[in-house]
Amino acid sequence: MNKKSTIIFLIGFMGSGKTTFGKMLAEALNLKFLDMDSAIEVTTGKSIATLFNELGEEGFRQIERDVLHDLSKHDHCLISTGGGAPCFFDNMDFMKTAGETVYLKGSAKVLIQNLHGATDGRPLLKGKTEGEMEDFINQMLEKREPFYLKADHVLDIEGITADNLLSRFLSLKES
Ligand code: S3P
Repeated sequence: MNKKSTIIFLIGFMGSGKTTFGKMLAEALNLKFLDMDSAIEVTTGKSIATLFNELGEEGFRQIERDVLHDLSKHDHCLISTGGGAPCFFDNMDFMKTAGETVYLKGSAKVLIQNLHGATDGRPLLKGKTEGEMEDFINQMLEKREPFYLKADHVLDIEGITADNLLSRFLSLKES
C-alpha cells in the first residue's frame, strides 16, 4: 500500500465481511472506521430496506453515491462500502482516485455461508430460499466482478480469520 494510503475502501459482495473485517483492520491500522450503509441510514434517518421500498433501487443508488462522496472527504480512515456501490455510476473510478481499494473476494459458497441468517435488512436478498440465493449470487457476481476486480488489491476471504486477517492484508503490499 503506497500511493494514497489515507483512505482504504473495502469493497465486495454482501457477506464478504466488509464490516466485520473492516472494523478489525481499522483498529489494527489505527484508522477511523466508516460504514457506508450506516452513514446512509444516519443521513436519511431511514433504514436501507425503507429506502429501497420508498425510492426503489435507483433512488437508493443516488443517495449511496452522495454518501460515498461525503465520506471520502474524511482522511485517515477505512470505509466499508455497500456491496453494490462499486458497480454504479463512476463510483469505482472515484474510489480508486480517492484512495486504495481492496476487494474482499469470496466464492458464492462462502458468501452464502456468511449470509446465512443475515438477510434481514438486505432488500436484494429478502424472501429468497437458499437455492434461489445461490443462483442470484452467482448471477450477481458475474455482473459485479468486472467492477470489483478493478480494485488495487484482491484479498481472498477463503479461510480468513481474525488471526490471519492482518497478515493477509499486509501481504497485499508485496503483491
Ligand atoms: C447491497 C448491499 C448492502 C446494501 C444494500 C445493497 C448490494 O450492503 O448497501 O442492501 O447491492 O449488494 P452490504 O454489502 O454491506 O450488505
